[in-house]
Amino acid sequence: MLIRQTPDLTENDVTDKGLYYGRRTFMTAAAALGSTGLLGLDAAQAAPLATVKSPYKVDEELTDPKAIAGYNNFYEFGTDKSDPARYARSLKTRPWTLVVDGLCAKPQRFDIDALMKRFPIEERIYRHRCVEAWSMVVPWNGFPLASLLKVVEPTSAAKFVSFTTLVDPAQMPGQKDDFIKWPYREGLRLDEAMHPLTLLAVGIYGETIPNQNGAPIRLVAPWKYGFKGGKSLVKISLVDKQPQTSWNMINGREYGFYSNVNPEVDHPRWSQATERRIGEFARRKTLPFNGYGPQVASMYSGMDLRKFY
Ligand code: MTE
Repeated sequence: MLIRQTPDLTENDVTDKGLYYGRRTFMTAAAALGSTGLLGLDAAQAAPLATVKSPYKVDEELTDPKAIAGYNNFYEFGTDKSDPARYARSLKTRPWTLVVDGLCAKPQRFDIDALMKRFPIEERIYRHRCVEAWSMVVPWNGFPLASLLKVVEPTSAAKFVSFTTLVDPAQMPGQKDDFIKWPYREGLRLDEAMHPLTLLAVGIYGETIPNQNGAPIRLVAPWKYGFKGGKSLVKISLVDKQPQTSWNMINGREYGFYSNVNPEVDHPRWSQATERRIGEFARRKTLPFNGYGPQVASMYSGMDLRKFY
């Protein structure tokens, strides 16, 4: 990460968060302007989702939708924070197949629309902390990864899960650069993947997820740095060994496999003790496991988290 630093968002980039709650009024206004919903995308790119509330939420102010969909890391579309919003517009996300295979009894290919109907789409309001020390609070919509993994029935040999994202240089101009050995890859231990917090997100703010945020489906593991959340997933595989992951392959000293948010373990080039919440001026203290310690810390008991960073 941080191939290049980009300037922080200014207050002008951020609109009124109250709009989310005044949603109906806003939708009417947006329709009149030819765009739909809070994310300001045109109708071809954003559709409302039927979602159910869930107990998984943090009581913190939501990040402005314009910032969530305008300040992104998605190197397939460029390295500047504004590149994904600009260049991912034309990404074709239908038809789309997600393969789930490997060490399981029932490997399968899932059509994205069928998948989105198969499980209730929950609203999960999570903290989102990038290893670059900025953070957001995002109302994701999606379903637990565990629900999907249970369908394919992992065998007892499965110990890890690997995530592979789309390779298509014709659609993804950033893939003409090879600083990442495409595809972008990520991985989790099986117990992390089965954890109830681990989400496959298909929406944000009650609308289908914008292309720049990882359409049509991306991973979210809120106690880990954001780069663990692979975008535009095409394959999820159950494997027996710790899989290779993109940032670890680029610089293993700076980006570990676990990458749990940890204010006590600095990145070699900057502190992880505090973070800049997008839309706020003062820095906040970073919380161990991004505030999800009570739910997840037991998965790492006995592990030296300086070594397994
Ligand atoms: N997934 C893919 N395929 N390519 C990427 O470059 N960047 C990661 C992650 N997932 C990335 C990716 C990083 S570094 C972060 S911080 C998050 O996506 C950013 O997600 P957001 O843009 O929705 O905030």
